Amino acid sequence: MQITCLGHAGFHIESRYGTILCDPWKNPAYFDSWFVFPDNSGLDWNRYSQVDFLYVSHLHRDHFDPALLSEHVSRDAIVLLPDFPVNDLRDQLERLGFTRFIVMPSGKVVEHEGLRLMTQVLTSPADGPLGDSALAIDDGSATVLDQNDARPADLDVLRSFGHYDVHLLQYSGAIWWPWTYELPAAAKRSFGAAKRANGLDRALRYVKAIGAQYVVPSAGPACFLDEDLFALNDLTRDPANTFPDQTVFLDYLNEQGVSGGQLLTPGAVLEVNHGHCEVRWPTSAEQAMQPFTDKARYLRGYAARMRDRIAAAERSRAASGVDVGAELKAWFEPLLGLASHIRAGVGGPVLLRLDDDCAIVIDFPAGEVRPFAGESCRYEFTVSRPLIERLIADHETDWVNSLFLSMRFRARRIGPYNEYLYTFFKCLAPDRLMYAEGWYAEQNHDEEDIQVGDWIIQRRCPHLRADLSRFGESDDATLTCTMHGWQFDLPTGRCLTTDTDSYRLRSSPARAEDGEPQRECRRLEAAKQS
Ligand code: FES
Repeated sequence: MQITCLGHAGFHIESRYGTILCDPWKNPAYFDSWFVFPDNSGLDWNRYSQVDFLYVSHLHRDHFDPALLSEHVSRDAIVLLPDFPVNDLRDQLERLGFTRFIVMPSGKVVEHEGLRLMTQVLTSPADGPLGDSALAIDDGSATVLDQNDARPADLDVLRSFGHYDVHLLQYSGAIWWPWTYELPAAAKRSFGAAKRANGLDRALRYVKAIGAQYVVPSAGPACFLDEDLFALNDLTRDPANTFPDQTVFLDYLNEQGVSGGQLLTPGAVLEVNHGHCEVRWPTSAEQAMQPFTDKARYLRGYAARMRDRIAAAERSRAASGVDVGAELKAWFEPLLGLASHIRAGVGGPVLLRLDDDCAIVIDFPAGEVRPFAGESCRYEFTVSRPLIERLIADHETDWVNSLFLSMRFRARRIGPYNEYLYTFFKCLAPDRLMYAEGWYAEQNHDEEDIQVGDWIIQRRCPHLRADLSRFGESDDATLTCTMHGWQFDLPTGRCLTTDTDSYRLRSSPARAEDGEPQRECRRLEAAKQS
């Protein structure tokens, strides 16, 4: 099997039974904020696009690049389609002219003319743009897990596919927290350091659990070439920066005693055959390292090449003549009428301020959109008018996948992170919203218990059901799920990361006051023996 890196999460995989193009991304994403690092624009995209299969893991725009797909990719390709409960990915691909699909049910092995394939499909409102996925591939010469930026919770299913030779996965941040928030600089650095450490640690846990022979960092970080965002790049291996590059992760793996880490840059080929592996560089290995060893100069040169493009994109954003208040009222109020769980979960008014005098309140409890009248708002966003006009003109139904990931806004909040709010902004169409509402309505906790430290707790994290026997860490009174870093108060089960009651952890002391094991504890021990 031959795996060619196309940059970010993009891979061209030549198997014994056909070629697979995974998550190809070339054009800047999120209002031209994110660029591929290292630059992959020089690749021969026609060569890599005449494939038998296309796999798009999810609809985030650093994985789904409609311009690239439209311009280059063979419409004869069979799409390996994760079986998402919402149809958006299929609809978008059909709009681009793809007609051949193999629907991949989560966790089921699909055999196609000698090729074994399996996806794990993540479907909670918090997973990507309402869905994310990972793909396992086996052609008899090698087995690969393309985890990209998915966070699969069921590792047993992934491991049941077989022993992996290669594991491709994300380790860096891809989120606006904490940089867009109005916080003291020291607080930002402290939150940034925690975020960076959590991302590296989470990836390490996946690496250890999967146990592949070779680990290739992928799916980020992007780089930021606009002068307004340039400081987000990690030029100095700053421990508070949330966008560490591939070399940082490879060094981290080494420090943690994990061997087999392998850097790939655009055009580099990893040949894997029955456990043997060889890397071929498009130029010299030294040149391939240049974006990392002389990063500031590399990114400045890249930014200079992209300057005209960035300026043209900025000029084209405004859609003047849009009455923002009236348009948002007509758009959002019917959605709020459908959103009882989300409205209760947000629990207060949210202020959207444009960078002129316009200020609009989205009042979640009341289900109204109205002009701001000085009331206290638990969240506040400040956004430039042209961006909001563009979102309205394009009827953009996922603002996370456009505005928020662009990092081109400022935010303030009272209290902790509120997941329901961002779920609302990614569900700005009735079908998407109804799906999220249904998911919240059905959410129930796993019945299985485990012991962590001195506590008996439910096995699956109340957030997105990560297996806490792998991802849970406890001190005396706090459980941390290292999947996304959420924390729970063990004596009460209360979530310390969000302020809603929907994410309560079932927990009880492992021993009663008389020192005897509690009933749950005995049950667990019995289960372990059987
Ligand atoms: S699954 Fe997200 S914090 Fe546990």
